[in-house]
Order: sequence, then C-alpha cells, then structure tokens
Amino acid sequence: MAHETVVVLDFGGQYNQLIARRVRECGVFCEVKPYTTPLSKIKEMSPIGIIFTGGPNSVYLDSSPKVSTEIFEWGVPILGICYGCQLMAHMLGGHVVEASSDTAREYGKTEAHFDTSFPLFEGLPEDAVAWMSHSDYMEKVPDGFVTAAYTENCPTAAIADTSRGFYGVQFHPEVNHTENGTEMLRNFLYKICGAHGDWTMGDYCKTAVTTLREKIKDGRVLLGLSGGVDSSVAAALLAEAVGPQLTCVFVDHGLMRKNEGDEVEAAFSKWDINFVRVNAESRFLSRLSGVTEPERKRKIIGEEFIRVFEEESKKIGAVDYLAQGTIYPDVIESGTGDAAVIKSHHNVGGLPDYVDFKEIIEPLRMLFKDEVRELGRELGLPEYLVMRQPFPGPGLGIRIIGEVTKERADLLREADAIFREEIASAGLEGVMNQYFAVLTNMRSVGVMGDGRTYDCTVALRSVTTSDFMTADWTRIPYDVLDTVSTRIVNEVSGVNRVVYDITSKPPATIEWE
Ligand code: XMP
Repeated sequence: MAHETVVVLDFGGQYNQLIARRVRECGVFCEVKPYTTPLSKIKEMSPIGIIFTGGPNSVYLDSSPKVSTEIFEWGVPILGICYGCQLMAHMLGGHVVEASSDTAREYGKTEAHFDTSFPLFEGLPEDAVAWMSHSDYMEKVPDGFVTAAYTENCPTAAIADTSRGFYGVQFHPEVNHTENGTEMLRNFLYKICGAHGDWTMGDYCKTAVTTLREKIKDGRVLLGLSGGVDSSVAAALLAEAVGPQLTCVFVDHGLMRKNEGDEVEAAFSKWDINFVRVNAESRFLSRLSGVTEPERKRKIIGEEFIRVFEEESKKIGAVDYLAQGTIYPDVIESGTGDAAVIKSHHNVGGLPDYVDFKEIIEPLRMLFKDEVRELGRELGLPEYLVMRQPFPGPGLGIRIIGEVTKERADLLREADAIFREEIASAGLEGVMNQYFAVLTNMRSVGVMGDGRTYDCTVALRSVTTSDFMTADWTRIPYDVLDTVSTRIVNEVSGVNRVVYDITSKPPATIEWE
C-alpha cells in the first residue's frame, strides 16, 4: 500500500531532516529529495504536497538553487520555508532583497502576528513567537499572494495564495522555538494538502512484513546483529516476516557491557529464527594482547569481527540476502549536491563482500531513528533494547585506555554497570544521550581502611547531544555523582579514584579513544 506522501525539497538548510521528522510525526509520510530532482521523478511519487526547505543562499543570485517553474503549474500545494519562501516569491514575480541591518534582518526568537483566517494558522493564537534566521526579505509579494503574518521588522513574515495552495513562511515552523510550529505544519498537511494521516508504525509494520515476505519468498537471509537499536529492530522485523529463513549472527567479542550478550540473546529467543551467538572473547583478547595504540585496537577488533562473521557464514552455507540496519539519515542525499558532512559509523568495521548473496536488504532505510524505536516497540522488543544508547562497535576495547585484558574489561564492566544503574534510579536516563565509564591507564595513591592503596582511576563520561557530532558534557547532579563514585570505589576492587570528564566535543571526542 502506498502512503500519502509529501516531498521535502532540500535546498541545503540545516533543519531539513527536522522538517521531514515533524511531517512524519504528524502522521504523514515524507521524503527528502535534493532540489535538483527532476520534476518527472517528483511526479512519480504522486505527492499530496511539497515543502521547500531553507538554505544558505540568496535567491536573487544567478548561482542560487532554483526549481523548474513547472512545479508551480502542477496544482500541488507548496509550503516554502525561509529560503523556500523567498524562492517561491522570487520565481513568481515578487521582489526579494537583502535586508539592511535596521530593517527586516532577523535572527532568533521574534514576536509575530498571524492572520488566523488563513488555513495555515487556523485555530492558533494570533500572537506568538517565531524562530527567524534570515538576512534577505520579501520587499514585494508576487501577484496573487497576500501577507499572512508580520513582525515588527518584517512586513512579510508569511505569505499566502489560498487559491493555489501556496504558502510561504519566513520563519522556521519545524524548530521547537517557534510556538505552534508543528500545528502550522499539521494545518498545511491536513487543511491544505488534504492528508488523512496514514503513516503510523502499526501500518508500516504490517506493510513491511508483507513486502519482505513477497520479496524474500523462500530465500535465506543473513543479518549481522550487534545488539544496537538498528540491527535489533531489523532483526525483529525480518523475524516477523520470514522467521525460520533468517539467521542472525551475533559476535560477542567479550567487550560488551555487563549482561549485554545475554540480554540480546534473550530478546530474540521468542522468535523462530536461527540465532547464532559466537562467543569470541578469547580470540579477540589474544589478538589485542599487548596492544595499546587506539587506532591499532580499532583495526584489530574490526578485522577480527569480519573473520568471525566470515567463518560463521561459511558454516551456514548459501545465503540469498544479506540484511543491514541502514536507516534514513544515512541515505538522504544532500540538497546542495556538495559532499554531505556525515560521519560514517561503521558498526564493527564494515560488512564482508565475500558472502554469495543476491541482494542487500535494508528494511529500515526509510525510517528515522525515533521511528525505528517505535517500530521496535510495535514488534515487541523490550524497552531497554529499543531505547539503548549508542554503543561503539569496538565496544569496551576503546574505553579501556592502555592494554585490554579480561581482568580490566571485567573491572570496567562492573564500574559501568554501577554508573548506569544509578543514572536509571535517579531518573536521568532521558537527560543524557550517552553515558559510560572509562578505565584509564592511571594509578594513584589512596587510603582505604587504615591502609595505603595504589589503584586504578575510573573516569565517568556523559554527554548531551542531538547529533553526536558536537556534544556538551552533562551537568549531572553532584549527589548522583557522589553515589556513583562511592559505590564504584567500594564495590569494584582495584579502583580507588573516580573522576568526571567535563570536556565538550569539540575539542574532545565522546569516546576516549
Ligand atoms: P566520538 O568518539 O567520535 O563518537 O565523538 C561519536 C559517536 O560515535 C560512536 N562511535 C562509534 N560507533 N563504531 C560505532 O558503531 C565505532 O567505531 C565508533 N566510534 C565511536 C560513539 O560511541 C559516539 O556515540
């Protein structure tokens, strides 16, 4: 079943994925496409509406991104946001100019007045804060358009041509700082584009299961399961679709967190699938023996993972499909045509190309991370798997500074488990995006009971971030840190000192190695 679709045409702005997520949160499927996508391709998607995103350019420059004028003759409603609004105005005969500093240039939260007789603002307050970020403005609106909102400095904060269903907003409704922004998008979708809201995870799940069954038929599927959110949800979906034909290979390299291997295994025991857990701790640790250089450790772990995976797939025999947990942010093309600055996170060092398979299946490639989590819930995965924080493929190997040994990994596992337990019991799990313990290679003097100790230092790391490219260290309450520190020193033998990492990214990275 095809879903009602909205196309988000990407002009290179910074909030473009956010627009798509908001639209989907409103129950309408949408896809982000570069502005260079030919109109014929867009028409093939039969969208019920189009959104032009913001972007860093000025529409009046010849070199700026444009669209084919035919898009305005097609009869599909369009919402232009920021650059997208100016583009529509410019291409339809309005006049966009650079704002001088004392006129309509606006940045940040701005009081705006909305004409609520327009469907875009229907049912919303007349006065509200809008998030602005523009140095150009519409001096004259195109014929057929009228002004639908204004601010003190900008007479054209929103424009509308109700007869054609064309709307433009100078501000960013997708950003939380814009009051009622999501409601405005909802109005565009439901009141202007006529959406019915057929994008729910329950529906998606049913459709995806049927589609996967039709595609795979009686073929065999192999999935490398890391225990992370994406591969776990991909496994659950495939298990639901083609259960016995699926083999999940979970390589336990001995560098997982406490109980993690058992938890992953338990979560998948309810499905009728072939679950192969390879306990490869000793071979990983023996290859890591004596190695202290971080990049060398990463390479060894990545390589060894592939070797194990290779051996296991040979045992399984002919496999038709290789499944991967790729998600939508990994596949969106950049709107500007420039190389997208996306940090590639290879789960455990890339996938092997030796497996003799017909095709790669990526059942999550249309979903955002929050949708993947929702789908996981829909499929009955436990909350601790669905809400799992990111965990690097090389695991504790890059959180143990210096040599990785079983003793040191066990020590870190205990310290890390205490940290996670205390964060959970303080109800702070939702406050930070990633938190863990690091075993440093430092020893220091302490005193316990009446005796001198000369033991290890454990560092705690916690960050708040939306994209993991930049991150702020989390302001954990002192009393929580105190409990964690006391427990670690008392309960984990070999540790006599706990420190908290108060460095943001940049200049530090989230992981220590
Ligand atoms: P850094 O340390 O670069 O980490 O600030 C950013 C995010 O990426 C995760 N990370 C990895 N994830 N394989 C992964 O799957 C890796 O090799 C890897 N290295 C870092 C890290 O945990 C953080 O969330």
